[in-house]
Amino acid sequence: MKVSFHGHSVVKIETMGKVILIDPFINGNSQTDLSVENENPDVILLTHGHNDHVGDTVELAKKNDALVIAPNELAEYLSWQGVRVHNMHIGGAHEFDFGKVKYTQAFHGSSYVTEDKQIIYTGMPGGILFTAEGKTILHAGDTALFSDMKLIGELNPIDLAFIPIGDNFTMGPEDAAIAVDFLKPKAVVPVHYNTFPVIEQDPNDFKRLVSDAEVHILSAGQSIEL
Ligand code: NI
Ligand code: MN
Repeated sequence: MKVSFHGHSVVKIETMGKVILIDPFINGNSQTDLSVENENPDVILLTHGHNDHVGDTVELAKKNDALVIAPNELAEYLSWQGVRVHNMHIGGAHEFDFGKVKYTQAFHGSSYVTEDKQIIYTGMPGGILFTAEGKTILHAGDTALFSDMKLIGELNPIDLAFIPIGDNFTMGPEDAAIAVDFLKPKAVVPVHYNTFPVIEQDPNDFKRLVSDAEVHILSAGQSIEL
């Protein structure tokens, strides 16, 4: 399984002959190496409804007939735009032909802001546990630190975790390092930083604070083989 980082919270997983994109925010993402024209995902996984996570989901899903998996309210909203969806919610898991998806909780908000300045409620935000080929990846979504991360770590041996470190909207480096202690992943990639001025961080500050996991600071386009 090839897992690559593409700036902000964008992660691509290639497994069982499928391409899975998580939170495909491409247009407007100052840190990404991707372009919407070149991406042809089979599946799109969304953590929550914020625009910097939903990103280009509708266009990508429509042009490739991709299946969009999202928390219920967000999936419902996207289905009205002609996208094929699978509704899920926090605590629920489902086995797909490309792997198993389980939603974890995240302490954050979830809404979509439309061009005409409506705020659409999109349910609770989540994190995503994805298991395929005997490996488990956690994409924590946007979240604050919370102590039930210990339970998530206890119940799920995590091979690789994507953890936000940008501060302001999510955990900053100090809280993110505590999250790593709680979740106990073998390896961790810091995400959700440097995209906007307010979330500028040096990922090495996070790396210095983590002792029990390998920290991989990936630039956009770099990948890890699991
Ligand atoms: Ni968010
Ligand atoms: Mn975000």
